[in-house]
Parts: sequence; C-alpha cells; structure tokens
Amino acid sequence: MPGLVEADDLGMYVLKFRGAGQGLKALVAEVVVGELARALGLPVPEIVLVDLDPELGRAEPDEEVQELLRASGGRNLGLDYLPGSFDFTPLVRDPGPELAAQVLWLDALVLNVDRSWRNPNLLLWHRDVWLIDHGASLYFHHRFAQGWQPAQTYRFDASDHVMLPVAGSVTEVDVALTPKVLPVLDGVLDLVPDEWLDDVFGTPDQARAAYRAYFEARLADAPRWVGELEAARVARV
Ligand SMILES: Nc1ncnc2c1ncn2[C@@H]1O[C@H](COP(=O)(O)OP(=O)(O)OP(=O)(O)O)[C@@H](O)[C@H]1O
Ligand SMILES: [Mg+2]
Repeated sequence: MPGLVEADDLGMYVLKFRGAGQGLKALVAEVVVGELARALGLPVPEIVLVDLDPELGRAEPDEEVQELLRASGGRNLGLDYLPGSFDFTPLVRDPGPELAAQVLWLDALVLNVDRSWRNPNLLLWHRDVWLIDHGASLYFHHRFAQGWQPAQTYRFDASDHVMLPVAGSVTEVDVALTPKVLPVLDGVLDLVPDEWLDDVFGTPDQARAAYRAYFEARLADAPRWVGELEAARVARV
C-alpha cells in the first residue's frame, strides 16, 4: 500500500514504505530498475529518498496505516507524483513499436512480472507513457545469501505482457540497449542506500557485486531470451 505524502521540499510523492510486507528488497528493485530504465532513456518519475518520522503515525486514524507508519521510520522511497495521470494501456494510446519493444525488453532483462494488461503499471501523463512499480522485479534477490551465484538462465513469461501485441523488433532494441547497461550499472547501484543492502551479504558492496553478476549473466543469456520474445511477438501479431 503506497501513500501520497508532501515532503519538506513541498513536492508530492508516492511513498513506498520500508515497513510494508514486500520489505526493503522491493525498494531496492524500485531504485535499481527505475534508475536503470531512466539511464536507458525510458520515462520514469523522479525517484527520491524520503526520511519518515514514525511519529506521523499518531495523527493517523486508520490502525493498519498507523502500524505501517510506525514500522517505516527512517529512509523510504518516494516517486514524484504525476497529478492527473491515469492508467495507460495500448488501447488508450499507441505507444509506438519502439517504446513498446523497449519496455518489453527491459522487463525481460529485470524479470519484471508486473506489466500485464491486467496490471500494466504504466501511467499516461501529459500525453506520455511513464513506467512505475518495479518492486517485484529482480525476484532472485529473495534468495540472496553468502555464496549466491546467478543462474545461467531465468524464465520470463511474456505471454500477457501489455506491450507484446504492439511491440516492434525486440532484436533491434537489444542491439541498441545491451551495450548501454553495464557502463551505467555501477552508478545505478550506488544510488541504493547502503542501509537497504546491509543484511543481504557481508557488505553492501558485496550485494552490489551480486546484482552486477546477475546483469552480466542475464545479458550473456540475451540471445536466448530475445529469441523467445521475438517468437512470442510473432505468435501474437
Ligand atoms: N508517480 C505516480 N504518480 C501518480 N500516481 C501513481 C504514481 N505511482 C503510483 N501511482 C498510482 O498508485 C497505484 C499503485 O502504485 P504502484 O503500482 O506503484 O504500487 P503497488 O503497491 O505495486 O500497487 P499495486 O499492487 O496496485 O500494483 C498505481 O497503479 C497508480 O495508479
Ligand atoms: Mg502497481
């Protein structure tokens, strides 16, 4: 359950609480995937870190929300609130084959299962598409422990991806975007607060190295999964 808050910069943010059921890893995924997408040129609302005073819970009438606020003292994640935005689907507006293919490719890269036509997690704002809600991506990190190694292959089911019916060539997107990922990745991983990575491996930098190892493995496997995406796309069109 995200909340809408005004921060001390007077901006309005959609707040993702550290005390929510999905835990800190969902916040890590929001930062890593959101900032990677942005670095690749995809539109993502500004992501900020928001310090929350758990005392705010005192003024909250709803008991469940009270509990959430009390469990979320410290650093939380905020997304710039896009006022007047509404849920985007390709039926509302054609995103164009290139953007659609980029979103499909990104979600396959980061194993984002939350972009189905039922729950697209895309917003239409000022006539543009914006990507939100990447907290369920990178699900392999729920198995992180000392000695973790990325698998050689991961399954990604694109059959109900919202962009599949309108996407252009994923192969072309792959050629254009693959060389851009690793050069920006360290900068992206550095944006994750150390404190969110503390209990994962020995040190936050070991956790960052594990994320990097994942991306290297996933990109090395790209010929296979891009081929699968292309087959799914051709079957759909
Ligand atoms: N930056 C934003 N600006 C405006 N509205 C937003 C923004 N981020 C999220 N929302 C709205 O809040 C809803 C929930 O946000 P989000 O999908 O990120 O959270 P969630 O906890 O994963 O919820 P769900 O389980 O419903 O997907 C979105 O579907 C959207 O309508
Ligand atoms: Mg959502």
